[in-house]
Amino acid sequence: MPELMKAPSKEPSIRLVMLPKYTNPDGDIFGGVILSMIDEAAAVEAQRQARHRYVTVAMDSIQFHHPVQVGDIVSLWCQTVKIGSTSICIHVEVLANPRWSGSEKKVTEAVVTLVAIDQNRQPVPILA
Ligand SMILES: CC(C)(COP(=O)(O)OP(=O)(O)OC[C@H]1O[C@@H](n2cnc3c(N)ncnc32)[C@H](O)[C@@H]1OP(=O)(O)O)[C@@H](O)C(=O)NCCC(=O)NCCS
Repeated sequence: MPELMKAPSKEPSIRLVMLPKYTNPDGDIFGGVILSMIDEAAAVEAQRQARHRYVTVAMDSIQFHHPVQVGDIVSLWCQTVKIGSTSICIHVEVLANPRWSGSEKKVTEAVVTLVAIDQNRQPVPILA
């Protein structure tokens, strides 16, 4: 781990309950909602590492392992994989805790790359 990279957080970047407004007509949570949460969680982690304005440049290795249901409490855990010159690469795991069973499992994961930008939307060094 590079000297200036902070150690992984002991808390999820985001935790929230899945509401009916997030579902498709069959009652499952939309994959796009999960991807949006992953994007937000990665942004939270990027800010934890270094304060900047960031844009997402890529989302890779997206895997939906299991469906997410209304009432599940989802937790998004982030680990910074790499801090480049102007980009930061973050692995995000989504864990879902079903409302009744209580057995949490990994439902989705992805790798998000964000770029720090200035007021002219030009990349700037993350760790100046
Ligand atoms: C992000 C953005 C500013 C990068 O501009 P750019 O001219 O391509 O910049 P560069 O080629 O210098 O790349 C900047 C960094 O991004 C990385 N990068 C660029 N494209 C990438 C990709 N597809 N995947 C991973 N990293 C990528 C580069 O490796 C570089 O990292 P480094 O500085 O740590 O080595 C520009 O592509 C952009 O504005 N994209 C739109 C972002 C956006 O609006 N996101 C929200 C979508 S709704």
